[in-house]
Amino acid sequence: MALQISGAVEPALLELPWSIQLEDWPADRLAALPRGISRHVVRFVRYEGKVLAVKETIAPIAHREFFMLRELGRLGAPCVVPFAVVDGRTDANGEELPAALITEHLQFSLPYRALFSRALREETLGRLIDALTVLLVRLHLLGFYWGDVSLSNALFRRDAESFSAYLVDAETGDMHHDLTPGQRAYDIDLARTNIIGELFDLQAGDELDETVDPLTIGDRIQSRYDELWDALTQTETFDTNIRLHVADRVRALNELGFDVAEIDMTETADGNALTIRPKVVDAGHHARRLWRLTGLDVQENQARRMLNDLDEYRATSAEDEDEVIAAHAWLAAVFEPTVRAVPREFRRKLEPAQIFHEVLDHRWFLSEEQRRDVPMHEAVASYVKTVLPNRPDEAAVLGQEIEDLELLAHHEPATDTDAISAWTIQNFKNLD
Ligand SMILES: Nc1ncnc2c1ncn2[C@@H]1O[C@H](COP(=O)(O)OP(=O)(O)OP(=O)(O)O)[C@@H](O)[C@H]1O
Ligand SMILES: [Mg+2]
Repeated sequence: MALQISGAVEPALLELPWSIQLEDWPADRLAALPRGISRHVVRFVRYEGKVLAVKETIAPIAHREFFMLRELGRLGAPCVVPFAVVDGRTDANGEELPAALITEHLQFSLPYRALFSRALREETLGRLIDALTVLLVRLHLLGFYWGDVSLSNALFRRDAESFSAYLVDAETGDMHHDLTPGQRAYDIDLARTNIIGELFDLQAGDELDETVDPLTIGDRIQSRYDELWDALTQTETFDTNIRLHVADRVRALNELGFDVAEIDMTETADGNALTIRPKVVDAGHHARRLWRLTGLDVQENQARRMLNDLDEYRATSAEDEDEVIAAHAWLAAVFEPTVRAVPREFRRKLEPAQIFHEVLDHRWFLSEEQRRDVPMHEAVASYVKTVLPNRPDEAAVLGQEIEDLELLAHHEPATDTDAISAWTIQNFKNLD
């Protein structure tokens, strides 16, 4: 059987060493990025300036997973982006090799095991579970039954104080028109069992904070799921002030980060009351709003934080008449100078939106400490000098360009901090 590539229109994929089993691919092809635990061989491969994840598996499964990820992507689910399937591989002796599923490496994402250096703390774990819950609810709303929910089968990205989770392993999943309560319950139960298993594993390796009880954390996914699912789908009946109640419900969902695209309203049988139920909800309320205003594409909680800062800016500056104009002014006067003020070699430690979030935190911290309103340029200078250099190595592998990854691998922590602050202030000379 001849080599066969389906999916991406990428003739250059033919140049990868498909006649060698993935395990033995030459190191110069590979990118050393953190990877979760898996049964199949998974490697990150450098390809035309980006990084691809290649997983060896049998052909029908590779094709199925490719199709599933494409469907999920089309529906707007947070998941890795499928790239291609390579099939019909043979080695130098003509022996058959497994097929390969290729996905794009999800930038700035980390497997949960890479999110801590010594032991996973309860607080971090709670945030991971919450992110996984949001992912699971979103998938269920789309009719996707996951079939193997676990921390290892998701990837995590920093999102302000919290994380957002992406599905990475869709092998066991199935698309339905609507999931039954039984199917959802089964997925949650599996999630609980898998998470508890993963935590016991960490515990056995002394990688879990002693105070963490795996069973309590396992239960958290159930309770969080129920809360969020109810908030998003529950039916309510009102006989007066309907308009107000609808507005309240929409606002509450917006607060949770969801937009209501459709709402069902039905009169009760006696015609005296109205039943409302959100029918179509889309995650990303704040992210969408920020994107409309500024063109910045960031994660939900980062967007929430940035919109708050924008509101504050609008309230205190002259640009208060028009939200769009104010947003552009804020972008030019606050956001961009902040991100630019971070020296190049540090910029790849975190996504710009995350850096901005941390600078805001740092500014708040300094202002509290010094009992005065610390201006943004001072906050950035101090952040770059005192916080960023000490970021754990974790962040160093999150870069966008491969050359930068290498550069960071050999990077010595900056010592000339005064030069950095001078440079930072220079970048802010038009501000404050
Ligand atoms: N596109 C990607 N971007 C980043 N990391 C990825 C990507 N694809 C795979 N990985 C990493 O590889 C790991 C294994 O992938 P995956 O879960 O699909 O393999 P698997 O062998 O099917 O797993 P399982 O043992 O659950 O069946 C993931 O946990 C993740 O860390
Ligand atoms: Mg997996």
